[in-house]
Amino acid sequence: MDAALAVLLTAVLTLIIGKLVLFRLRCPNAPPCISGWIPWFGVAFQFGKGPLEFIEQARVKYGPVFTVFALGHRYTFVTEEEGIEAFFMSKDVNFEQAVQQAVKHTVSIPAKVFYKNRYNLYVMLKGKMAPPNLHIFMKTLCKELHEFVEQLGTEGTEELHDLVRHIMYPAAVNTLFGKDIWPTSRSEISEFEEHFQMFDEDFEYASQMPVCFLRNWSKSRQWLLKTLEKVTSAAARTNPSKSESKTVLQHLLDTLPDKHFAPNYSLLLLWASQANAVPVAFWTLVFIISHPDIYKKIMDDIVSVFGNAGNDKTEISQDDLKKLPLIKWCVLEAIRLRSPGAITKKVMNPIKIQNFTIPAGDMLMISPYWLHRNPKYFPDPDMFKPDRWKAANLEKNAFLDNFVPFGGGNHQCPGRWFAIMEIHLLVVLFLNKYEFILLDTVPKESHLHLVGTQQPTGPCRVQYKLRE
Ligand code: HEM
Repeated sequence: MDAALAVLLTAVLTLIIGKLVLFRLRCPNAPPCISGWIPWFGVAFQFGKGPLEFIEQARVKYGPVFTVFALGHRYTFVTEEEGIEAFFMSKDVNFEQAVQQAVKHTVSIPAKVFYKNRYNLYVMLKGKMAPPNLHIFMKTLCKELHEFVEQLGTEGTEELHDLVRHIMYPAAVNTLFGKDIWPTSRSEISEFEEHFQMFDEDFEYASQMPVCFLRNWSKSRQWLLKTLEKVTSAAARTNPSKSESKTVLQHLLDTLPDKHFAPNYSLLLLWASQANAVPVAFWTLVFIISHPDIYKKIMDDIVSVFGNAGNDKTEISQDDLKKLPLIKWCVLEAIRLRSPGAITKKVMNPIKIQNFTIPAGDMLMISPYWLHRNPKYFPDPDMFKPDRWKAANLEKNAFLDNFVPFGGGNHQCPGRWFAIMEIHLLVVLFLNKYEFILLDTVPKESHLHLVGTQQPTGPCRVQYKLRE
């Protein structure tokens, strides 16, 4: 028995060493690789426990380019300018190949269907939500946000994250998908929200592992897809002929040749529109309320634009928002500080970065979270300093250098300007109407999210009261 085990172990070890030697011969200039000693698993456990800390410690120990081996895959991180340029611009790396499997796991869109439709859908969304078209959403979005803010009553105490979610979720859905075709009663909205929250919470796990391990998540996904079947049928039935009268969902239906997958794509769009925007709105409010000097300046600005704060301002225009730049800077600063841990592309042909050659098949990764903490680009990187955004040419829709929470190049998030406007508007409506007091200390960020905005780790209750 012992002899058989020894033979087996020797065979496994020989195989691993053989593979490593072969790999080194084929790719002598590959970056240092952190692979641990467990075959196939690699350093999955250590990485999964705290991915953001892992990335930073590896950068300090191995230098700006390194590979992490986990669950049979090689993830190569690049943390300096040269690599970032290649990440966004090189033809040898591919976005679709990197995300296809996650899309299949989470919303059951097969690879062939995904490759066929992605580009057209991306171009459509980018066009509809481009800055010159945002005015189309402004009136509805403002009315919707106002309606749900109104339901908060005169005063209360609530978990800030829930408060933000209960308002943004139905308002964004009614704006992008169309109010009349969506479940609208309070109980229907909260049932939808519950399932959606479950779907969002385990989205990252579901994107990596077989969903049979996530039973409750699978049930919620099934429920959401069934409901979206009804929603997309209603959107198709009521689809107007005039382009300006269509919702984003109806444009999506027009662009999609294979209507069978409309609920799956709708779920993906719904997730993309909420997953980052809600936590960013939460963090923006937390940062503002916990910085009394900034909070006061913002209130002075609001008074100078709308007269006395607390008046029931129901209609806010894009011009009004332009007169409140400090709030927009706060949104961008919150995004900077709580950005996704990584964005990814697949290497299709070997690519040279610094002195290394990254082999085909690797996943190439950059980390917006850590890039935004580089003091060379963001002095005092850990501080919430909205004033740093004075230097950005936001009038021309340009961010600060090396600000990459939305990706870059040809795959930059098509919803970014919509998201910034939506959060800007929500913060103005909230602060104009209510006075807020934080009841808990500012929570730490989770440091766990690779694909999404970092979530808070502890409670964060607020007390709110109508302004006099
Ligand atoms: C603060 C809020 C948001 C953040 C931080 C964010 C971030 C991102 C990131 C990092 C990507 C991937 C880019 C890449 O890998 O190169 C992405 C893609 C995408 N985002 Fe956003 N996003 C936000 C809001 C939104 C909103 C509000 C919508 C829709 C209304 C949206 C729709 C999309 C879509 C459809 C894609 C996929 C694009 C493609 O197929 O190439 N996002 N977003």
